[in-house]
Amino acid sequence: MRTRMMRLNYHGNWAGRHLGAWKAGLDGSTHFDLDYYLKFAQIAERGLFDCIFYAAELAALGPDRPTQAGIDPVVLSATLAAHTERIGLAATISTTFNEPYNVAKTMATLDHVSGGRAAWNVVTTYDPMAALNFGLLELPSKSDRYERAQEFVEVVLKLWDSWGPGAFTVNAKGQNINFCEAGIHPINHVGRYYNVRGPAQTPRSPQGRPVLFQAGASEEGKAFAAHIADGIFCVALDLSIAKTFYADMKARVKAAGRDPDSVQILPGLYVYLGSTEEEAKRALVAQSSTSAAVKQLSVRLSTDVGNLVLDKTVPAGILEDALLNPQSDGHTRSMVEHFRRERLTVREFLERQPLRGPHRVLVGVPETVAAWLEEWFLGEAADGFNLGNMTHETLTIFTEEVVPLLQVRGLFRREYQGRTLRENFCGKMS
Ligand SMILES: Cc1cc2nc3c(=O)[nH]c(=O)nc-3n(C[C@H](O)[C@H](O)[C@H](O)COP(=O)(O)O)c2cc1C
Repeated sequence: MRTRMMRLNYHGNWAGRHLGAWKAGLDGSTHFDLDYYLKFAQIAERGLFDCIFYAAELAALGPDRPTQAGIDPVVLSATLAAHTERIGLAATISTTFNEPYNVAKTMATLDHVSGGRAAWNVVTTYDPMAALNFGLLELPSKSDRYERAQEFVEVVLKLWDSWGPGAFTVNAKGQNINFCEAGIHPINHVGRYYNVRGPAQTPRSPQGRPVLFQAGASEEGKAFAAHIADGIFCVALDLSIAKTFYADMKARVKAAGRDPDSVQILPGLYVYLGSTEEEAKRALVAQSSTSAAVKQLSVRLSTDVGNLVLDKTVPAGILEDALLNPQSDGHTRSMVEHFRRERLTVREFLERQPLRGPHRVLVGVPETVAAWLEEWFLGEAADGFNLGNMTHETLTIFTEEVVPLLQVRGLFRREYQGRTLRENFCGKMS
């Protein structure tokens, strides 16, 4: 029997990163109504997805982008926990603009109220505009942010472990709660960025250690992920880029003394489904805008929009410079490598990647999509996928038509086997 099973994650921020996302699939609700999110969560849970993930940006405005709305991913995840039973809930929290003690408490609480389904997407925040909302004039350097993140996570893990497994007991009837003081320890952490006495205030949660996601792709980001992540989000625009990233990360995880099979690598994917190829293409075209995509491309490549000519390739110098100091290595590197390898004009690139988001776009009927996922999964380019840009309708088609195809091929679970997200997501499943 196959032991390696595909993981599926649903990236739940609105219906995606295209200009029409605000309007897509609203059914009379808004993007700030619980019903809108709940419907996605319930469809994804019916499809036996591992997890729903919510990203978090920390600035509405920027010089080179339209207003960016967002809601708090932890509050949303906790609310969804009350209306779902098995699906994991991954909330993004920045290590640059929080304190470890708060985050340890928040995530342990999410783990308690969800019965062991909490995950934390650990980010350092790459948006320079965020700094202005937290009393800073500029974002700390990438190396500083990752150093801080390393210590931040170390403190959070110590706090989660500061209540030993037997430190909190409830009798069989759930009546008597006992704290065993001997099992609760201060952590006395003294470091470069944080001094934290501990112990945590929130008792050990069902998973003990909520699942950790990470999505950095710079040298610093990959080193960090290799040490701490259970799940790694990445950007990979073609199979070869994905395979290289996958092999590199598995080797780094091994070198960090961890089991590479316990760390799941999930490239992002924007899926457009239809009952015919034409129908799927129509759904995509309805949501794309060339001018917005060119603008976004220029931001990702750190160049002026006037330097990009639709029917010409991107000059080699621009591609080189784009890698010098990208806001997000993950978002930029895959794009640059794809341009170099395929020698695409801007127009050709946008035909393949017509949205303003960074991830690979996949358009087709359920059979084509299932075959594509299988190729990447069996080709060791991915352990699973982080699927986004979907409307309720697309996610429903995915759940009802793509998931069964994956199940028949023995690639995806037929039921949730574990009680917690960690059991379902991190362990080997047969
Ligand atoms: C799928 C995915 C989701 C991400 N979500 C967030 C997020 O919610 N907030 C954030 O600040 N950065 C987010 N990032 C960015 C990375 O976590 C990372 O901070 C950024 O790419 C800069 O680091 P790097 O240069 O090491 O890649 C995300 C990246 C990817 C690929």
